[in-house]
Amino acid sequence: MPLVTTTEMFKKAYDGGYAVGAFNVNNMEIVQGITEAAREVNAPLILQVSKGARAYANHTYLVKLVEAAVIECPNIPIALHLDHGPDFETCKACIDGGFTSVMIDASSKPFEENIEITKKVVEYAHDHGVVVEAELGTLAGIEDDVKVAAHAASYTRPEEVEEFVSKTGCDSLAIAIGTSHGAYKFTADQCTRNEKGILVPPPLRFDVLEEVSKRLPGFPIVLHGSSSVPQDYVKMINDNGGKMPDAVGIPEEQLRKAASMSVCKINIDSDLRLAMTGTIRQFFNEHPDKFDPREYLKPARANIKELVKHKLINVLGCDGKA
Ligand code: G3H
Ligand code: 13P
Ligand code: ZN
Repeated sequence: MPLVTTTEMFKKAYDGGYAVGAFNVNNMEIVQGITEAAREVNAPLILQVSKGARAYANHTYLVKLVEAAVIECPNIPIALHLDHGPDFETCKACIDGGFTSVMIDASSKPFEENIEITKKVVEYAHDHGVVVEAELGTLAGIEDDVKVAAHAASYTRPEEVEEFVSKTGCDSLAIAIGTSHGAYKFTADQCTRNEKGILVPPPLRFDVLEEVSKRLPGFPIVLHGSSSVPQDYVKMINDNGGKMPDAVGIPEEQLRKAASMSVCKINIDSDLRLAMTGTIRQFFNEHPDKFDPREYLKPARANIKELVKHKLINVLGCDGKA
């Protein structure tokens, strides 16, 4: 089937109590690892491309890689989504350039300005059969070239969501309930430590999610910054020359709970990067004489595939839902 929008996926996910995985893609091996996993477990899929990915790999290369995946995976619905679209022009370029979904992220702007920019993107997107994700509230962490310190992050205000959605006409809404971008999601003083000395983050604000869902019945909610930062991969990186102290993510049980509620899309990027980096670091440590990129990218791709399969089945619950 051709690339699809997220409309049908989200409706089924909302009604079925699961979420669709949105994984960031930057090169061929990442596209292959993710899509082979989704094909094997028969899961719907969102492949997303950030401004940084477009700058790194080039818009056309990424679209063509995703089109190749669509050909290789004819039985699962795949949407191609712009992640954190910074302005109308970038959204327009992606709408005109083959994407089926875009995010306009004006969440750092004042409420009225966020509405104005989002509405403009929605009008253009809907005229072209493309759906729009918007954002209210500010996540901590690093996304593209924007770094938000933990103290500057702010939870979504539930009392604003109805007005925002009705005035903008957006198709889904990303909210801030305590997730955060990157591999260092929380500072040590925001966390406690478990018996192994690993940081335990503060729990997500399910009360905010519940209040938002009550005010927007049937409306798909999105969670960004939802990597779990698997400690096995952090260890693999640190055991093989890396230095990632206190990298910590969102516990998977909390994401599973969110997926059973109104959260229909869960964004995962950093976990893929950790799997790829850990695998490649270990490979070079074990084989200092090797220099063929295929030899180290192959196990990296295989580990991305295993990680994505685990997420689709055990965290998102979307296996078998294609
Ligand atoms: O939220 C941001 C995504 O993880 C994309 O990251 O801007 O480094 O491509 P990036
Ligand atoms: P992570 O950094 O937690 O993987 O979040 C990715 C994301 O939200 C992409 O938009
Ligand atoms: Zn994000």
